[in-house]
Amino acid sequence: MTSREDARTYPFQKSLIRNYQAPRWDEPLIFELNSPGHAGVLPDDEGLSVVAESAPEKSVQRKTALNLPEIGQAQVLRHYLRLSQETLGADLNVDIGQGTCTMKYSPKVNEKFSGSSLSADMHPLQDVSTAQGTMEIIHNLQEYLKEISGMDKVSLQAGSGSAAIYGAVKAVQAYHEARGEGSQRDEIITTIFSHPSNAATAKTVGYKVITLYPDENGYPDLEALKSVLSERTAALFITNPEDTGVFNPEITDFVEAVRQAGGVTFYDQANANGLLGIARAREAGFDMCHFNLHNTFSTPHACGGPAAGALCATDSLAPFLHGPQVVRTPTRFEWSKQGKYATADIRPFYGVVPNLVRAYAWIRALGAEGLKQVAETAVLNSNYLHAELSKIAGLSIPYASGEYRIEQVRYSWQELAEETGISTGEIGARMADYGFHYWTSHHPYIVPEPMTLEPTESYSKRELDEYIAALKLTAEEARHDIDTVKSAPHRSSIHTIDQEATTDPETWATSWRAYRRKYLGEQRPEPSTWVAPTNLPIPQRAPKAHHR
Ligand SMILES: Cc1ncc(COP(=O)(O)O)c(C=O)c1O
Repeated sequence: MTSREDARTYPFQKSLIRNYQAPRWDEPLIFELNSPGHAGVLPDDEGLSVVAESAPEKSVQRKTALNLPEIGQAQVLRHYLRLSQETLGADLNVDIGQGTCTMKYSPKVNEKFSGSSLSADMHPLQDVSTAQGTMEIIHNLQEYLKEISGMDKVSLQAGSGSAAIYGAVKAVQAYHEARGEGSQRDEIITTIFSHPSNAATAKTVGYKVITLYPDENGYPDLEALKSVLSERTAALFITNPEDTGVFNPEITDFVEAVRQAGGVTFYDQANANGLLGIARAREAGFDMCHFNLHNTFSTPHACGGPAAGALCATDSLAPFLHGPQVVRTPTRFEWSKQGKYATADIRPFYGVVPNLVRAYAWIRALGAEGLKQVAETAVLNSNYLHAELSKIAGLSIPYASGEYRIEQVRYSWQELAEETGISTGEIGARMADYGFHYWTSHHPYIVPEPMTLEPTESYSKRELDEYIAALKLTAEEARHDIDTVKSAPHRSSIHTIDQEATTDPETWATSWRAYRRKYLGEQRPEPSTWVAPTNLPIPQRAPKAHHR
């Protein structure tokens, strides 16, 4: 701490807050550590000849040597250890500030199973007779997810939640085409606080997206839904609880209304952590749902590790699922034959198998009762945070105010921002000084100065108390020493990153659209026509439904 910080005292338990200081190694890029002639382990002659024999044909071979740095084994080890020490990773901190990403503990024992040669060294083209153990695991995972969702079929091929949702949109399209209504049903309805990947995937496939806004009580508006249903409705894509943590109490009415209009209903269940063993998509009447195995089922998160999205469907939508599934025959496990309605593969082969093994191990370790306990603990943790943080002046909880959320809450620092000029981003940067990673995407930005916390079942009361104390301290600092907060982080390994560089098409092309703008001279698309007014109370800022 700086001497300025030492001199301050605040009227709450400061001892909970750590005197954190990130190491700074000033580590060069590994290419700058290049030391010609140095190497880790050299493959033996036999290894080299195997490579040579299986070399691809000349036309696809490299023309120049691979420009890899030459560096000794110990130097490589030190390089990456130093980098890891500079990272405020999920295993190091109370990573609850990435709400809606469900950053729960990924049990290390599961790495043993996923890293074992029985799954890690499998080749997707090897004969199924030599892969029966892995096939059984995939089959049983399908069965567990059927039980957990209540659905009839599961595809585990998608490599992310968004990919599974994209697969669901393609299934909806194929379903209506098979019924001769493909061109007529061109609208997909979602809610503003459903995860943005629902609207984004629908738009990517070519649907017109209709977005519903909360009613005056903060819940998705059933009347607004009814007013936009028609013979053009292809589907409802809805996240519940929404990314605000609000659970739609009329969800079955939503589903029924869409069914009456001839639409398909898809349930984004990436926020299922508070529902496991308690509520199922089937009983809510949905035709399809998806889970993020990398959120709810403990496997490492998408941006920090391999992901897997499970797409589940009732019998009526099952023929339209992507990817193969494992079926049990009287003698062995086989890949199912793709039917004539199956949609195109989402990725090659069968999905991210090591992740499927991790999720399977997690479910096996917990059992049915354990899964329910996960949900109950996650909700309890979230309610505890909610109750304690409600005491912080300047922090509010817009929409469905006063109501309990499920497993996460989207808070707003708007009042503190108006009082002090601080922003949620600056509060997040200051939290890094206390050893906490606090950042998430809150798109679309309807809740002003948002902070979404999702404590999951993985954190103890003491850890949550540490987090609460650091937030309280930061809010007080904003009132009494705003410069320290605004110039944070001070004790982190790096300062804030200049984000301009990552969005400047002159520097990077981080997406296909950015690439097209940069190299093909395409213009930025027109922004969506609706802009949230800022001069109204929050619940009145939104229209009832908005077409994109
Ligand atoms: C509710 C919800 N839906 C969908 C997604 C998209 O999943 P992914 O990031 O794996 O694409 C997320 C991401 O965490 C999510 O929270």
